[in-house]
Amino acid sequence: MQHTDYSAKVIDHFMNPRNMGELAGANAVGTVGSPACGDMMDIYLKVEGDQIVDASFKTFGCTAAIANSSMMTEMVKGMSLQDAENLKNRDIEAALDGLPPHKIHCSTLAADALHEAIKSYKERQGATQGKVAAS
Ligand code: FES
Repeated sequence: MQHTDYSAKVIDHFMNPRNMGELAGANAVGTVGSPACGDMMDIYLKVEGDQIVDASFKTFGCTAAIANSSMMTEMVKGMSLQDAENLKNRDIEAALDGLPPHKIHCSTLAADALHEAIKSYKERQGATQGKVAAS
């Protein structure tokens, strides 16, 4: 099989995805779908204090989407929430040594799902703190 459009790193993360499946003990989840192709992605995070200590993914999608999910979960482990919020799809793409131009939209899924998970985590934290403050 020829994979001439993809870098060796993309093929490696697609063939041997890291951190695949639901994450036991996850306290943040982000789900996104791509309007361009209908693919879906769930990102699970375990957050302690201000730090992401573990991450995993479930992706119903293409080679690029799976490779991006896998790489992103590796990148964010140990990262602060703020650094993870600033992580761009271009950063993930660069870590994979690039994507074919027609696959760039696939890399936005992983970054969007990550940001969604952080947002929902912060909203829940805010709601919990609000309740504590109100009681
Ligand atoms: S074609 Fe759907 S995410 Fe790549």
